[in-house]
Amino acid sequence: MKELNPLEFPVCFEFPTRLAPSHWIGHIPFAMSLVAWQRPRIFVELGTFTGVSYCAFCQSIAHLGLDTKAYAVDTWKGDPHNGSNGPEVLEELRAFHDPRYGSFSRLIPSTFDEALLHFLDGSVDLLHIDGYHTHMAVKHDFESWLPKMSHRGVIVFHDINVRQGDFGVWRLWEELKEQFPYFEFLHCHGLGVLQVGKEPTGTLDPLLNAPAQEAVKIRECFSQLGQRLTFQWETERLLRDIRNQQETDRESLQRQLAELQAAKGLQLEEGPKIEIEGVTAIQEQPARVLRLEQRLKIQNERLAALNEQLVELQASKDLQLQECLHAQGELRTAQQRQLDMAEMAREAERAEHRGVLTSLQDRLGETEQNLQVCRLQLAEKNGLIEFQASRIAEKDQLLQSQGAQLAERADRIRVQDPLVQALTGELNACVQREGKLQEEFDGCAQRLEAVQRSLSFRCASRVSRLVRQTAPVGTLRGTVLHLALRGGSVLRRDGVRLFFFKLTRKATTLATRALPFRSA
Ligand SMILES: C[S@@+](CC[C@H](N)C(=O)[O-])C[C@H]1O[C@@H](n2cnc3c(N)ncnc32)[C@H](O)[C@@H]1O
Repeated sequence: MKELNPLEFPVCFEFPTRLAPSHWIGHIPFAMSLVAWQRPRIFVELGTFTGVSYCAFCQSIAHLGLDTKAYAVDTWKGDPHNGSNGPEVLEELRAFHDPRYGSFSRLIPSTFDEALLHFLDGSVDLLHIDGYHTHMAVKHDFESWLPKMSHRGVIVFHDINVRQGDFGVWRLWEELKEQFPYFEFLHCHGLGVLQVGKEPTGTLDPLLNAPAQEAVKIRECFSQLGQRLTFQWETERLLRDIRNQQETDRESLQRQLAELQAAKGLQLEEGPKIEIEGVTAIQEQPARVLRLEQRLKIQNERLAALNEQLVELQASKDLQLQECLHAQGELRTAQQRQLDMAEMAREAERAEHRGVLTSLQDRLGETEQNLQVCRLQLAEKNGLIEFQASRIAEKDQLLQSQGAQLAERADRIRVQDPLVQALTGELNACVQREGKLQEEFDGCAQRLEAVQRSLSFRCASRVSRLVRQTAPVGTLRGTVLHLALRGGSVLRRDGVRLFFFKLTRKATTLATRALPFRSA
């Protein structure tokens, strides 16, 4: 991942045009850089007071020539942590702000809640929350403004590192760190950067995803830059105080001198009249001069001490500036080293990629050949598929026509169904009748068989009685009948053999009927 390089965003080295006593001074270099990284379309600040933080954001927007719309929301009446203010705070800020940033920025005197109405949901890219600092108040500000944040939204919280009294930003910050990507600064009461948008711009990645060591370096760099400003501001304020003090002292001395001179002139003019008073005054004069000299001496000593302090501060400022420059130099060298190393690594990577590319190209050639073969096979298969498809289409048509026929038949069956049911009823009745008839028939058959059995027995006994009567054994008639009944042959006296075949029951019956001899 790309590392954060402040030199790519030199706006962080700009000297702020708006400075006033504020713990925010130390965060100005970061605020200016953040604007350059994120390039917000809409920026809102909740809690502006004298405008140290707000004007830093605006200065960066103007310096970079961005198309940002900026809004500062504050009642400018103060709060329990910040004390109460009169209208002069807003008036003074307006006088500074409007001519410089009036083209893209508005100061909105209102409570944070009332101002919510003036912003669409999902419209704010960058929000700075620096209002009342209790846990409940800052949590309310966060939760009520969160829906206003855009998909690339970033929220900045001041005072995340203040753990005294009822300051509670740190507690909310601990809760939010669990839920969103973040970066935190611990100097100047602490500043937290929270990415609440779901699709952030990649430019903040090196900050929000910085490895632990890199994060330490970033914190150190911006803390140094911030301290430089705080120090510069303190020095200038001290110088101003010294100059003011000198001025006051000079005026006071001049007044006293004038008084003395006036007193001396009066004494000369009215000498005789106020001789006694004059004598007293003259007597007191050396003492007064002494007192004045002593006061002058004390003032001079204080002046000398202040001058010494100033020289020390100046020296220490120079030292800090040198350290700063030295740190910048080291930073630049380290970055150059890192760039060189990154370049070497990239070159090695490029060589490796070239090798991979060549082998990939070879494989691509092979793959293209295979692809060609596959294409031919595919074309063949496509032909086959087309042929099959046409057959399937034909079969489909056949199926459709058969389907239609089936449907027709089903219709017909539906129509014939009642008929079939009626016929089936009749058939069942017939089957039942048939069963009964079969039973009757079986009974008749049994009776018939019994009749037949008794008839054939009676017939047989009648025949054998008739045979015994008409053709007794030993007669020719008896022999012939015997042969006729049993079969066989007989040799006549003339030498002819007569053959007799066994008579069937029918033949016997016929023969019996044909025979002229019957029993009487
Ligand atoms: C700590 S100061 C802001 C400091 C400022 N950011 C700076 O750079 O110095 C807090 C400001 O928030 C304002 N404030 C607090 N709660 C507010 C609220 N609910 N609505 C509007 N203004 C509020 C106060 O009037 C006060 O001016």
